[in-house]
Amino acid sequence: MPFPPGFLWGAATSAYQIEGSPLADGAGASIWHRFSHTPGNTHGGDHADVACDHYNRWADDVALMQRLGLNAYRFSVAWGRVLPEGTGRVNAAGLDFYDRLVDGLVAAGIEPFLTLYHWDLPAALDDRGGWLNPDAAEWFADYARTVYARLGDRVRFWTTHNEPWVVVDGGYMVGPMAPGHRNKFEAPRAAHHLMRAHAHAVRALRAEGARQVGLVVNLEPKHPASDSPADTATAARAHAYFNRQYLDPAMLGHYPEELAEVYGEGWPGYTDADAALTREPLDFLGVNYYSRTVVRDDPSVFPDGARKVPQTHAAQTTLDWEVYPEGLTEVLTWVTERYGALPLYVTENGAAFYDPPSPVEGRVDDPLRVAYLRSHLQAVHTAIERGADVRGYFAWSLIDNFEWAHGFSKRFGLVHVDYATQARTPKASAHAYAEAIRTHGASLLP
Ligand code: BGC
Repeated sequence: MPFPPGFLWGAATSAYQIEGSPLADGAGASIWHRFSHTPGNTHGGDHADVACDHYNRWADDVALMQRLGLNAYRFSVAWGRVLPEGTGRVNAAGLDFYDRLVDGLVAAGIEPFLTLYHWDLPAALDDRGGWLNPDAAEWFADYARTVYARLGDRVRFWTTHNEPWVVVDGGYMVGPMAPGHRNKFEAPRAAHHLMRAHAHAVRALRAEGARQVGLVVNLEPKHPASDSPADTATAARAHAYFNRQYLDPAMLGHYPEELAEVYGEGWPGYTDADAALTREPLDFLGVNYYSRTVVRDDPSVFPDGARKVPQTHAAQTTLDWEVYPEGLTEVLTWVTERYGALPLYVTENGAAFYDPPSPVEGRVDDPLRVAYLRSHLQAVHTAIERGADVRGYFAWSLIDNFEWAHGFSKRFGLVHVDYATQARTPKASAHAYAEAIRTHGASLLP
């Protein structure tokens, strides 16, 4: 199973989920720090004050990546470490941390793949309206320039936002994620400014010399539960809301018509001229993939009238996500057909399963994750055979970590973390991935 030459075999993490020490060395608090310290928002009141202590253990973690044979690592920068107030004063100590990390990766032969925004907006900017403030586009471009100035000589791959859909649906529309609003008037406006910020940052990075600039979206097939007109229309609406809301304006220059229906009176009536403000040619697209949803029409379901129909015949993760590898082939071929043949990276793919609580004789057997990894890498390969230009794959996640509102109750890592001791133990899935990398995919053959 030959993957293309130069294929990136990576793993992904994000700043707030693994680093810990969120206020160290002059960093400004993020909305996730504030949100997780507000009672009732996370499982058991979990917060990421320590998390995986990666802020202090980054060198060991790089050594671990090297042992697994990864040739790429996707991580995010915490905006508030770099600019504690979000704008203005630069905190050199915060940049020093990423500078050391990038040096460590390069020395280990691991390609750094950097995300600027993985959901941890500086709280000081939320106090100024966060993504609802039209100035957010300038704030974000300034932040991008500042990070580029320090790391641009060693980091080739730059991405702006991670998963705009989650930022807005989770943070402004439905509310389980920071800043926890539930408001159909805010959500489309936050989406628009978030994506204006994306376009501004792409231009800023290019002007500074960046040559590989992209965006990361999460994609998920929406399949109708029956061929009734109502279910078919609902699946199309859910697809527009989830998969096309950000990519259509950013790549094609217009918002999907279905958004007027989803947001109802909250829809600001954005025109093509508005959409064009979010559009800037990209060097690549990052695709995060976890599952699909099969949907049935049910107007009582907020916001898109799509009731999820559990697929009880299939394996499920502990988040009740159906294991559906064919969907990864589907989304990779779909983006290629709809938006043109641009280079793609699978920037996240993985699953939370019930792992044994602790290692037994140094082993953590996670057969379901091994099967998930194998079937999804095969699905990537099928997409490549069908013409998708996929140039890399990042498993989510390198290590168990803080799973947002679920706190530490869900484990996605290839590597087990004992949160009491911070010991790292590669699970069977990490060994299987290492073998896939070593054989350039041949070990994935049946
Ligand atoms: C996010 C990660 C998250 C993962 C699993 C993605 O939506 O980018 O931060 O941990 O999914 O839920």
